[in-house]
Amino acid sequence: MVEMGARGEPFIHPTAIVHDSAHIGPGTAIWAYVVVEMGARLGENCVVGTHTYVGNYASIGDRTRIMGQCYIPTRIKIGRDVFIGPQVSFLGDKYPQVNKPNHTENPVTIEDNVSVGANSVILPGVTLGQGCRIGAGSVVTKDVLPWFTVAGNPARAMKKPVTSWDETYEGLNGPHAPGLRGL
Ligand SMILES: CC(C)(COP(=O)(O)OP(=O)(O)OC[C@H]1O[C@@H](n2cnc3c(N)ncnc32)[C@H](O)[C@@H]1OP(=O)(O)O)[C@@H](O)C(=O)NCCC(=O)NCCS
Repeated sequence: MVEMGARGEPFIHPTAIVHDSAHIGPGTAIWAYVVVEMGARLGENCVVGTHTYVGNYASIGDRTRIMGQCYIPTRIKIGRDVFIGPQVSFLGDKYPQVNKPNHTENPVTIEDNVSVGANSVILPGVTLGQGCRIGAGSVVTKDVLPWFTVAGNPARAMKKPVTSWDETYEGLNGPHAPGLRGL
C-alpha cells in the first residue's frame, strides 16, 4: 500500500517523473505516471491524478485537485481550491503546427474555486473567473465570468451568477445569456 509522505511532505509515486527544479508543496500527492516539467510550482495539499501532464513553469495553487489524464500546459496559472475533472485539456497554441517559426504559448488562467467538468477543452488565452463551473464535455472559447456556469460546444452560460456553490438559482436560457464575455 502506498502511503502519503510523513509530516506533510509531498508524496510522489515512484512511477511519476518530476523535474528536479519543480517545487512540490507539503502534503501534495503526485500519482502514478504523472509528469511534472521544469520550473512547475505546485502548492500545498494538492492532488495530481494518474497520467496527468504538468508543463514547464505551470503554477498550481494550494488544495487544487486535478484528476487523471489531464493536459496542463506550459506557464498555465491555476488558483487555489480548483477542481479539474478527468481528461481535461487546457490549450496553449490556437494554430499548432510542426516546426512552427516564432512559436508562442497563450496560456489559460484559472482563478480560485473554479470547477472544470470531465473531458472539457479550454482554448488558449481564456480566463476562467473565480468560482465558475464548466459543464462536463464543454469546449470553452471565451472568458467565463466569476460564479457563472457554462456548458456545451461552444460553451454557453446556463445560470445566473451565484455567490457560493451552495446557492440555488434559476437557469437563463439562450445563447445570449450573460456569463461569457463577448457574447
Ligand atoms: C454543468 C452542470 C454543473 C449542471 O448541473 P445542474 O446545474 O444541476 O444542471 P441540470 O442537470 O439541471 O441541467 C440543466 C440543463 O443543462 C443541460 N446540461 C447539463 N449539463 C450539461 C453539460 N455538461 N453539457 C451540456 N448540457 C448540459 C441539461 O441537459 C439540462 O438541459 P434541459 O434544461 O434542456 O433539460 C453539470 O451537469 C455538469 O456537467 N457537472 C460536471 C460533472 C463532472 O464532470 N464531474 C467530474 C467528476 S470526476
